[in-house]
Parts: sequence; C-alpha cells; structure tokens
Amino acid sequence: MQGIKAYIDTNKDRFLNELIELLKIPSISADSAYKNDVLKTAEVVAEQLKKAGCTHTEICKTKGYPIVYGEKIIDANLPTVLVYGHYDVQPPDPLNLWNSPPFEPVIKKTDLHPEGAIFARGACDDKGQFYMHVKALEFMTKTNQLPCNVKFMIEGEEEVGSNSLSDFVKENQEKLSNDVILISDTGMIAKDVPSITTGLRGLSYVEVEVTGPNRDLHSGLYGGAVANPINILTKMIASLHDENNHITIPGFYDKVEELSKEERAEMAKAPFSLENYKKALDIKDVYGEKGYTTNERNSIRPTLDVNGIWGGYIGEGAKTVIASKAYAKISMRLVPHQDWKEITELFKTHFESLAPKGATVKVTPHHGGQGYVTPIDNIGYQAASMAYEQSFGKKPIPQRSGGSIPIVALFEKELKSKTILMGFGLDSDAIHSPNEHFGIFNYYKGIETIPLFYKYFTELSK
Ligand code: BES
Ligand code: MN
Ligand code: MN
Repeated sequence: MQGIKAYIDTNKDRFLNELIELLKIPSISADSAYKNDVLKTAEVVAEQLKKAGCTHTEICKTKGYPIVYGEKIIDANLPTVLVYGHYDVQPPDPLNLWNSPPFEPVIKKTDLHPEGAIFARGACDDKGQFYMHVKALEFMTKTNQLPCNVKFMIEGEEEVGSNSLSDFVKENQEKLSNDVILISDTGMIAKDVPSITTGLRGLSYVEVEVTGPNRDLHSGLYGGAVANPINILTKMIASLHDENNHITIPGFYDKVEELSKEERAEMAKAPFSLENYKKALDIKDVYGEKGYTTNERNSIRPTLDVNGIWGGYIGEGAKTVIASKAYAKISMRLVPHQDWKEITELFKTHFESLAPKGATVKVTPHHGGQGYVTPIDNIGYQAASMAYEQSFGKKPIPQRSGGSIPIVALFEKELKSKTILMGFGLDSDAIHSPNEHFGIFNYYKGIETIPLFYKYFTELSK
C-alpha cells in the first residue's frame, strides 16, 4: 500500500509510546482488585479507536468486563473485516522473576531482537498485537486508503474464558456481521519465517479437590493408617498418563482427528531445530507422547497437564502433618472433533473412579472451548498469504498452533465466517510468563502487513 513504510517510519516513536501507555495499565481480568484498571483500559482502547478513524465507538456493557466496539463503514456494498482482540492480560506473577516491573514497560535489546523488544505484561498477548490493527487503521484512514468496511471488537475477558463475549456475539449478529474475522493473538515461526496460524486447540480446564480425614492430622500418629490426600492426588494424577505418555482416560481419543501421512509430512517441512528448542528451555531432552514429533505433540495431539497443585504445609521449616485436603488445576488441550464438554465429563467420571474409599474427590469444571482449523483454500487465507509475501518477501507457511482462543469456534458457528489468524508473536516472547515481551520489528511488521490484507481481501472479494 502506498506509503505504509514511510508512514510507520514517521510515526514510529508515537506508535511505540501509545502502546507503552496502554501497557502501563494493569488490566488483569483474573484478579478483581484490578477492576478499575480493566475498565480504564476499555476506555483508552475506545478513545484510540476513535482517534484512529472509527466513526462510531462504544463501550458495550456486559455482565463482566465491557467489550469495546468500533467501526468505520464506508460502503455497504464493500466487504467488512471484523477485527477481534483482547485488552485484558494474564496476572504477572511470580513477580520476583521479572527483570523489570511488569507494568512499567521498558525497551531492551535481546539476541533475537537486536532492534529492541518491549517488555511488559500484555506486550505480545494481546495489547501489542491488537494495537497493530488500531495503527493499521490509522494509516488507512489518514491516507484515504481504507478499501473496505471495518469493525473492531476488543474484549476484556479472554484470559478468563470469554464468558460475556459468547452472549454478546449471539445477541449482536447483525451488528457484528462481516465477511472475514481477523485476529492477531497467535505467533509466527520465526522473524524471517512468516506463518499463518491455521489451527488452534480446544481446552477443558478443571479443578480437583481430594478430601481425606475431616481435619489436618499429626503425621506420626495417623500416618500410614489413613488416606493422605496429597499422596492420593499425586498418584491419581500420575495414573492419567501411561508409559507411552498416552492419556488413560477411557474414550479420550475416540474423536481425535488423525492426520494423514501426507499432512504430517507437510507439517514436518516447517523449519524447526530441536537443538535450539532444547537450548532455549535449558532441557536435556524433550518429553511427550510416543510416536509423535515435538511439533506434532504441541499442535495436533491432545494433552493433559497439571497447571497448579497445592495442599499441606509449604511454609518454612518442617511441620509434620497430613493435610485434610489436596488440590490441583488441570488443563486438557483438545484437537478438532473432540468436544470439550464431553471430555470434561469423561475426565470427571474417570477421575472420581480413581479415588480409594478413604478419600472423596470433587471435580469442578472451569471453562473451555472447541478447537479450530481454518482451510487455506479461501480468499481470507489467500489475502493474508499475499500480504505476508509482500511485506516479508516470502510466502508464509500454514502452521497449527497449540494454544487456544475458544471464542473462534463460536464466531464461525454464530457469525458464519472464517477467522484468519495473523499472529506476529514468537514462542520466545514469554506470553503468560515473567518477562513477556514483543519485538519492535514484529510490531512494525504487523502494522505494515495488516493494511495489505485489507487491500488483497477487498480485491479478491470482487
Ligand atoms: N493468545 C493466547 C492464545 C495463543 C497464544 C494461541 C499463542 C496461539 C499461540 C490467548 O490469550 C490465551 O492465552 N488463551 C488461553 C485460553 C483461554 C481460555 C484462557 C490459552 O491458550 O491458555
Ligand atoms: Mn491472547
Ligand atoms: Mn493469553
């Protein structure tokens, strides 16, 4: 598009500073102590959308955090792009592992980002990424090059399960009508290996509680004679994988889509270095389901992982005690055709059956969602591919990701449109971890690539 590089260059400091201001607000949706900050963030997003050229913006109230809506409709006969993103962020803890405070953004150079990367919670997931779309819109409106209609829907509850958004989408089908949904909330293979995410995994997230005796007990007086909930819980968890790291829940794999040899061979062509992978994580070896490669294990195969486990005495020194209760939070990543509600039920039934008589088990489902795969034979994918090819000088590779954006499957069901996942993050950006960051190169490259998508999508729609 005419002048995009020059426009970015002229405005590069402002583009960064605006993002920095957004990153300073701790919009942690999981922690109610930050309620006012989350609400404030919604206001800033709406303001920025207005400044970037939306002719109408709205902060839509929900039962939870508001959804920021913005639009610029130039001609009802032209296609409409709906941009989705989220302004909420993950909690930053553990705080002591951050090299700089999570809500005081700083720009630092790293080996991978010699131009610098911006370090802050939400830098990549997803403030930095959705803000690229706001700046891309600014460029298109300020230079009179917006080729089609655009709608924005930026929510504040993605990191806690998008509860309000599903109702919002169901109730506002007309308002949200579109020809394609565009999201930057995923990653790319490497800075010089552009890729388009064609799959997301589904999710079932549960919490389990094991109760033994009715009170904490002296581990000498009672140890060995009663079921210790922590011993029991860890044993139950350990039994969820067999010696080949297959998940042992009956029926768990029944609906799993098996990829053909050809598809797996195609996947294996994506550049990947197992050595670098291990080095980046300081591990001597990878670990996972027998019969699958690392890239298959983290994208086309379902998984079960403990995300947190607690109980008993964890203070300083030793306390001899058998706790009355033990807890764990468990996530299952699912692949296409696995139904998250069905899997949650299978888990519950199986997990409850594992407990000995001397202990009781409670399984509480948290949230979940379906996986998603996009075909690559549609104009949305083609337009994205052409856009990357122009901005990176290389054709992008389709790549299935291991992460989840559960709302995407609902978009397809309710709004009947395909989602194109143009992610610009890197696996090493440490999303959800301490020292999350987003490369300045990636940020500007995103702003450069997005308008090209609009251009090609509009052209291909004709
Ligand atoms: N942006 C991520 C998902 C993601 C990241 C997908 C990188 C692919 C590549 C999103 O914000 C996220 O964290 N999703 C959660 C699920 C949600 C229901 C809490 C996840 O994947 O754990
Ligand atoms: Mn995200
Ligand atoms: Mn996230």
